Amino acid sequence: MHPEQGEVIYTEAQIRNRIKEIGAQLSSDYQGKDLVIIVILRGAVVFLADLTRCMDVNATIDFIVVTRYGYSDKPGQLKILKDLDYPIEGKHIIIVEDIVDEGLTLYYLKEALLLRKPASLKICALFDKPARRKVNVAPDYTGFSIPDRFIIGYGLDYKQKYRNLPYIAVLREDLLQ
Ligand code: PRP
Repeated sequence: MHPEQGEVIYTEAQIRNRIKEIGAQLSSDYQGKDLVIIVILRGAVVFLADLTRCMDVNATIDFIVVTRYGYSDKPGQLKILKDLDYPIEGKHIIIVEDIVDEGLTLYYLKEALLLRKPASLKICALFDKPARRKVNVAPDYTGFSIPDRFIIGYGLDYKQKYRNLPYIAVLREDLLQ
């Protein structure tokens, strides 16, 4: 599609194969359980669509929209713009996320959702950038651990563009403004 946007670091085939592995692991871990997959809009929808089709479990899917107030690590930094449609008390939860960067989004979301008393709560992220972490949070299931570079594609954007690229590329520096 647009490889001129930057160097491709994960091809469609590599992403597909890794997602199949995660899907198989989740299918085994959640067999027979009442699973709710929670998706943080928007970037994670591409991962969600492929991951759920690799999973052989009974699961429902719910969506949440959050925004961060800032970059400090003080509590109360997260605002829920669109909440889940269904209660999660007593349910097994997986939060599906495209990328964990500074970690603030997931740290505060996890804290907020745990107050609703789910039976369990785990995080599944396709990409993890541990070098950028500001708070103590880590995915329980990770697709790829990546270095601190600005990546686009497969749901990830730069100024809302490039989400539709089927691969992951490092955005060319001269395109970063
Ligand atoms: C991105 C990504 C995560 C969050 C991670 O979302 O999808 O939700 O940032 O960042 P953090 O670990 O530093 O908190 P973004 O707010 O860009 O929205 P989007 O999903 O609509 O692209």
